[in-house]
Order: sequence, then C-alpha cells, then structure tokens
Amino acid sequence: MSDKKLWSGRFNEPTDAFVEAFTASVEFDQRLYRYDIQGSIAHATMLARQGILSDAERDAIVSGLERIRERIEAGGFDWSVALEDVHMNVESALTDLIGDAGKKLHTGRSRNDQVATDIRLWLRDEIDLLRDGLRQVQQALLETAEREADTILPGFTHLQTAQPITFGHHMMAWFEMLERDRERLADCRRRLNVMPLGAAALAGTTYPIDRHYTAELLGFDRPAENSLDAVSDRDFAIEFSAAAALVMMHLSRMSEELIIWSSAQFGFIELSDSFCTGSSIMPQKKNPDVPELIRGKSGRVFGHLFSLLTLMKGQPLAYNKDNQEDKEPLFDTVDNLKGSLKIFAAMIPAIRCRPQAMREAAMKGFATATDLADYLVRKGIPFRDAHEIVGRAVALGVERGCDLSDLSLEELRAFSPAIDEDVFRVLTLEGSVAARDHIGGTAPKQVRAAIERARRRLADD
Ligand code: ARG
Repeated sequence: MSDKKLWSGRFNEPTDAFVEAFTASVEFDQRLYRYDIQGSIAHATMLARQGILSDAERDAIVSGLERIRERIEAGGFDWSVALEDVHMNVESALTDLIGDAGKKLHTGRSRNDQVATDIRLWLRDEIDLLRDGLRQVQQALLETAEREADTILPGFTHLQTAQPITFGHHMMAWFEMLERDRERLADCRRRLNVMPLGAAALAGTTYPIDRHYTAELLGFDRPAENSLDAVSDRDFAIEFSAAAALVMMHLSRMSEELIIWSSAQFGFIELSDSFCTGSSIMPQKKNPDVPELIRGKSGRVFGHLFSLLTLMKGQPLAYNKDNQEDKEPLFDTVDNLKGSLKIFAAMIPAIRCRPQAMREAAMKGFATATDLADYLVRKGIPFRDAHEIVGRAVALGVERGCDLSDLSLEELRAFSPAIDEDVFRVLTLEGSVAARDHIGGTAPKQVRAAIERARRRLADD
C-alpha cells in the first residue's frame, strides 16, 4: 500500500518522523474501522443517488470497502502510521484496490465530519451493549432479592446499626441505582444520535448532497442542524462519560459493601472463591480482590470524564486537533465499564448469605429501638417522649450487655406503664421488618411486590 499522504499537495518537505508518529492516531482509532466503513458506504450511496458519483463508481467503492473490512477482520490489513488515522488508511487502501473511483469517495466530506460520525456510530453501539450489561446485573439482583426476600440483616446509617432490613430490600436498592444509570444511557443515546456528515470541514459543502438520506441509511434520527457545531462539539462524549462515571460510582459502593460484609468482622456473606484471591504470605487469606479492583477502576473512569471536559474547555469553533484526544479516554471507559458489569452479573448470584451472623449483628445493635418508640406512640405517648423512654431502656441494655427483647416485662414497664406483654412481638426482627409494610418499605411482602414491578420495567425497555 502506498504511504503517500492524502494531503501532501501543498507541502514541499516531508513530515518529521517523530512529528508523524506523535500526531498519528491510527494506533488507537483503527478500532473504529467498522463504523468508518459503514459511514463511507452510506456517503457513497448518497453521492450516487444525487448524481455526484456514477452507479458504477458507487458499486466499486462499496465492494472495495467491504473487501477492506474483510481484510481487516482477517488480520491482513497493514496499518500505516504515515497515513495518520483510520480514515486515511482505509481511503488509501481503497484507492490502491479500485483505482480512481476510490479518490472520489471523499467528495463533499472531510475527516472532521467523518470522525465525528464514526465516534457517534461506535458509541451508539457501545451504549446498547452497556445497557444490556446493566440489565444483566439487574437481573442477577432480582434473582438474589427474591431468594433472600426474608433474610434479615441490620441496616446502617453512619455505618452504625440502625434498623433491621431484609437482604432482598438491599439488593433492590442496588437495582434502583442501576435502573437510573440505564435510563441515563438511553437518554444520552437519544441526544448523540444526530448525524454530523455533510458538515464537511466546518461550513458544509457545495455539492447537492441529501443529508436526510445519509442519516436514514445510518440510522440517525436526523442530520445535525449546524455544521460548525457538528464537527466540533464532543459534549455527547462528555455526557456519556458522566453517565459512565455514575455507573462506576454505584459499582464502587456495591463493591465496598461486599468487601465489608465478607470481612471476618461482619461475616454476613461469603463471596465465591472465583472472585477472590489468596495471599502469597498469609495462608489464611481470602481477599475480595475483584470488588476492590472495580472500586479502584472507578478512579480512572472519573479521570476520563475530567480529561474530556478539560479537552473541550475553551476550544474555539470549529474542529481542532485537540479532539483527537477524545478517543482513548472513551475507549478505556467503555472497556472498563463492560468488564466491571460482566463481573458483577456473575458475582452477585454467587453471594452466599450467612443469615445467622446477620441476625446476631442486628440483635446486638438495638435495631428495634424505633419499633419500641412507635409501639409507645400507638399507645398514646407523644413521639418525643417515647424516644426519651426508649433511650433510657437502651442505656440499661448497654449496661447489661443485652438487647431490648432480653429485658423482662417488669423491667420494661419501669420505663413506661404503657408497655404490655404484646411488646415482645414488636421487638422481634421479623415483626420490625414486617411492620414497614408500604410501597418502598422493607417488609418481605413489599420487597416481593417491588421485584414484580421491577421485572416488568426491565422487560419493557
Ligand atoms: N484523527 C483525527 C481525529 O481523531 C481525524 C480528524 C482530523 N482532521 C483534521 N483536520 N486534522 O480527530
């Protein structure tokens, strides 16, 4: 293949070898080849329909591009750094293959609208895959929530025992976090699905092109309204990165809880051996490396969001070479997100709960103190007084090293004569969770209803 630069006409001296390597993007943007070829095929098809290319030229271009795609996929394509990027590598190979018709492909377009189109086409597919990945984690959460709908553990605020909750309820909280992430990605996809082609370098083109037709061929909702904006802005990439950062933030929180729960100090769950590793020095260790790594990966994804924001900041219209730097952060974000979701989908259903340890922890921390206060309110005592009464009962429990339910009726009545035999029902963990019986509450019955509704949402979209 000839390495002759496609823009060499006005230059007298060759590019400095280091500058050539420094400015080239082909090492990483070759990943876009399928979308580059898809965009070129649509462009050539439109040009022929408008009489700008002959049908024979179009056919030669289309079949040439298809052959190039096959060659790339078979690993037989020679990527050239001298040809700078994926766009010029493909175009140059096309001309080598079919001759002069190949030189006509670039009529009425520029690499500026071409690259903006390629990234949008690529990201659109990746978003669809990521939304599938999220759906799979959500599916796993639903199954686990259903299996553990009655399993009781302490819920925390400030990481201090607060009130008993069910494990199913906790899984469904994670589900909701990811549901918003899935919506955010759908929203971002809607805004990015607008076609830059036809903007050419920045101002549009003098040929009688039909942008609506090209947009239709490529599955875009419409052509971009403004040519300057179309070639220059990468806000869609930033928006995607922000949505991706939120997914990673959520996964890092989920990871953190898995790590805490699987520690010897908590012992609430056991992670499957396949998601843990051992220590080279301490034989007893089983480390939750996989959730730790995902927690760590959130850092680089947040960093990419900042790279892209900073990349775009202060750029004058229209295209600037700065934008070539948009690809690596995007690629790395997508790769790490995909991997993390894949792992979570497998790791969640493999969680083994230890209900006994969870119960003991819930019993230890006066988790039903609010239930006792609510009980007193039902007996006619104002909530603030009830709060005070229960506080004193808790102090006695702390002194004795026992739970509220271990105190005798006489001892409890010393705090308030409104307390009767029926108090012991509200002091049980089961009674406590079952009493939170409204939409959004932790009662097993409500968790099962929430799972049903969630299943329908997941199936709908
Ligand atoms: N490799 C370039 C990029 O990724 C393609 C567009 C180059 N356009 C230009 N006028 N230099 O942004």
